[in-house]
Amino acid sequence: MRQEKKQVTDISDRPVIRNLADVDPVRAQQVAALRAHALSDPEAFWLEQAQRIDWATFPTAASAASFDGDVSIRWYEDGTLNASVSCLDRHLETRGDQPALIWQADDAAVSRTLTFRELHAEVCRLANALRGLGVKRGDRVAIHLPMVVEGVAAMLACARIGAIHVVLFGGFSPEGIGERLIDSGAVAVITCDFSRRGAKRIPHKTTVDAALAHAGTIGAVKNVIVVQVTGDAVPMTEGRDHDYTTLVSPQETECAPEIMRAEDVLFLLYTSGSTGKPKAMVHATGGYMVWAACTTDWTLSPQPGKIHWCTADIAWITGHTYVVYGPLLSGTTTLIYEGLLGWPQPGRWWDIVDRYQVSCLYTAPTAIRALMRDGDDVPREYSLASLERLACAGEPISPDAWEWFYTVIGQQRCPVADMWWQTETGGGMLCVIPGAQPMKPGWATTPLPGLSAVLTNEKGEIIEGATEGALCFTQSWPGQARTIWGDHKRFRETYFTFSPGKYFAGDGARRDENGYYMITGRMDDVINVSGHRIGTAEIEDALATCHSVSEAAAVGINHDLKGQGIVVFVVARSAKVAPPVDELSRVICERVGRYAAPERIYLVKDMPKTRSGKIVRRLLRKIASGETENLGDLSALADPAVIPALIAAVGEQTITG
Ligand code: PRX
Repeated sequence: MRQEKKQVTDISDRPVIRNLADVDPVRAQQVAALRAHALSDPEAFWLEQAQRIDWATFPTAASAASFDGDVSIRWYEDGTLNASVSCLDRHLETRGDQPALIWQADDAAVSRTLTFRELHAEVCRLANALRGLGVKRGDRVAIHLPMVVEGVAAMLACARIGAIHVVLFGGFSPEGIGERLIDSGAVAVITCDFSRRGAKRIPHKTTVDAALAHAGTIGAVKNVIVVQVTGDAVPMTEGRDHDYTTLVSPQETECAPEIMRAEDVLFLLYTSGSTGKPKAMVHATGGYMVWAACTTDWTLSPQPGKIHWCTADIAWITGHTYVVYGPLLSGTTTLIYEGLLGWPQPGRWWDIVDRYQVSCLYTAPTAIRALMRDGDDVPREYSLASLERLACAGEPISPDAWEWFYTVIGQQRCPVADMWWQTETGGGMLCVIPGAQPMKPGWATTPLPGLSAVLTNEKGEIIEGATEGALCFTQSWPGQARTIWGDHKRFRETYFTFSPGKYFAGDGARRDENGYYMITGRMDDVINVSGHRIGTAEIEDALATCHSVSEAAAVGINHDLKGQGIVVFVVARSAKVAPPVDELSRVICERVGRYAAPERIYLVKDMPKTRSGKIVRRLLRKIASGETENLGDLSALADPAVIPALIAAVGEQTITG
């Protein structure tokens, strides 16, 4: 199944840099050549990158994408492949007995390691079981699992038989899951009895049952496969529900991969948009895999034999690209952890890093902030000497959180790749290529090779030089989502009408004189106060410089005179020392401008967050505006109990900045 291989320039095997500004001349020169090639001959460049993965038929052409008119995005169209082959089969000969996947259970004494051969066998067994249930090429299969081996196996098993996986977040409500089952037309669900969240048990099976009841006859689900995670009894519906082990263990350990066209859909992944209706981004097999391979290699330098730990849940795009596909493609060992950050005690993550000798740690700024809150003494009890590479993504990282990550965790030895990207982009977009260019704390730095980032003004016109504007891309890249499942019109209108002919990311960004980009936040979070546009991230960054502040979120509320006013929610670093509100206001005025002075500052215990750690500003905005009812769907919140506490805090405090 493997085609003749030409050598793709390997930039991964270069020394790790020691200082922010350190650059390895050889690596810098290789990356410069890569960028130059992408500019001078994009077609040849992208075909060269396609060699990073295994194809049944190597494509003869790269891009056939157009952002004009109806918008049509297609890559490597005449190529054929199976994604699971590049993650598993390609390694069997050379490193079949090396670990592919390590699972660390919530219980520190329990773990499981699967070699590439064992993971291949597990995937094949499940793939055969799915085929046996009548699941076929193009069918959608929903996966509703916590961080367990079967979650990774389920994604790859779907890929194996050409079924489209739809991983659904464990915290969605039954209605939320039901809606997504209807929208995707899923024919099967792979779930479990319960999952563990610290001392709590989260019911998955009964949630799926309720979701199926919600979907009713519009739903297409015929089979439900239930993994035993906690082993607790759950109701099983005769003829529909199957115990995973009973179904899967007797199956054959070989399963012929379904050969897919490059443009066949590999997965759907739901993400939130500006409206309440969930939208499933559609990712195509060939291009997504190539982009996962490029971005993992350029930014994270995975090596076979080393341990890669991306802490994202597989229900998010980061979990897809940097827990499953990217690392496995590269032959490195990917580690997954079932448990919570800081559970049962602070330092749990650092124990995992030392225990498994983790080389690359990829996480989210929100986790970094939570870890910072524990204090420096906690990580200092651990060696962390195995770490070589750090990465973060998902939201802007403030310079002080970046410094902490770099200094306390990376011990000023490990470069930090701050990677900006989206569910829509499939893989990293703006990111430092460590060793090839200096890092800049708080800046996602430059577009990766082959990408054409531009900034536009609010009319969608390109603006040049050191400036601030809307982040757009003028050319397609292989990992780009092809459409929104079942709603191409919404896809076109959301992303391609702001600046016709360009992909509009929805984020604002600042660019410096060296062409480095810093994300200022979602454009929908931009607050316009008396005609001044203020990024919530700017205010939050300012507050992040206050030692007494652990986390801050700014939202815009309607204001009679100014159009919008700013309300700030602040979590104190220590429960004992409340940050002085006057001081916070002064810092904002100083760092951003007087026009950014907040109307109100609320001290709160916790922010409303999704389980992937994003602050749900929509709720803060409503609560700040005095709305305590009709807060909408709270099912994606990590802890819905935060809401009454927030409402109470806003009711009790009338602090004016
Ligand atoms: O606003 C940007 C922010 O997260 C959004 C994408 O979220 P999602 O689709 O969940 O994908 C997450 C993949 C990491 C973006 O529009 N964002 C993501 N990464 C960064 C970021 N903001 C600043 N810096 C980042 N590195």
